[in-house]
Amino acid sequence: MTDTESIEIFSVIRERRSIRNYTNRDVPDEALRAIIAAGIQAPTALGLQPWQFVIVKDRDLMQRVSDYCKPILVEKIGEEARSGTEEFLAALKNPGFNIFYNAPVLVLILGAREAVSSILDCTLCAENMMLAAWALGIGSCWIGSAALVQQNPDLLAALKVPDDHQIVAPLIFGYPGPLSPKAVRREPRITWVS
Ligand SMILES: Cc1cc2nc3c(=O)[nH]c(=O)nc-3n(C[C@H](O)[C@H](O)[C@H](O)COP(=O)(O)O)c2cc1C
Repeated sequence: MTDTESIEIFSVIRERRSIRNYTNRDVPDEALRAIIAAGIQAPTALGLQPWQFVIVKDRDLMQRVSDYCKPILVEKIGEEARSGTEEFLAALKNPGFNIFYNAPVLVLILGAREAVSSILDCTLCAENMMLAAWALGIGSCWIGSAALVQQNPDLLAALKVPDDHQIVAPLIFGYPGPLSPKAVRREPRITWVS
């Protein structure tokens, strides 16, 4: 059997984890370009490549997005009352909490509304980007909560999101602080049909 321990891509996939604790070190534009270059290698339905990218380094704007999304999230999560959300709900109620974990950069992957498979295509792109970032020593986290900003035309304009695109993947990037342990994966149920 192939020894995947020693193949780099397997170790990047195994070791990547969502980072919610960042140092203040800026992510160089060159690294962001390399991460996006990896993203766009993802497969897309019909080869449409239906994405655009917005790179946000404006911390005030990120704070405004966070401030806008937080109360909406508190209401939504409160209504749903799903187990496992208690800790996040408590964090959201803390005025000092920022949904972007004070990361130095936010990248929005935008999907063309007219493309047949925009959301899936951009999601594949996002995983490529998070893995490429990890390989460069850069942490990331998908901040799904930030997609709520789509309800706010002023913030969408400030983020330069065109009308014919939607935000599919809001990803934060930055150099990690001390690493938390990797979230344990359940054994997958695999059915072999032969
Ligand atoms: C679609 C999606 C939305 C997510 N939204 C958030 C979010 O709003 N805030 C957050 O802290 N993490 C978010 N995450 C990260 C997940 O919590 C994380 O991937 C999961 O707990 C597994 O942990 P790992 O990435 O460290 O392996 C999101 C992940 C995905 C795929």
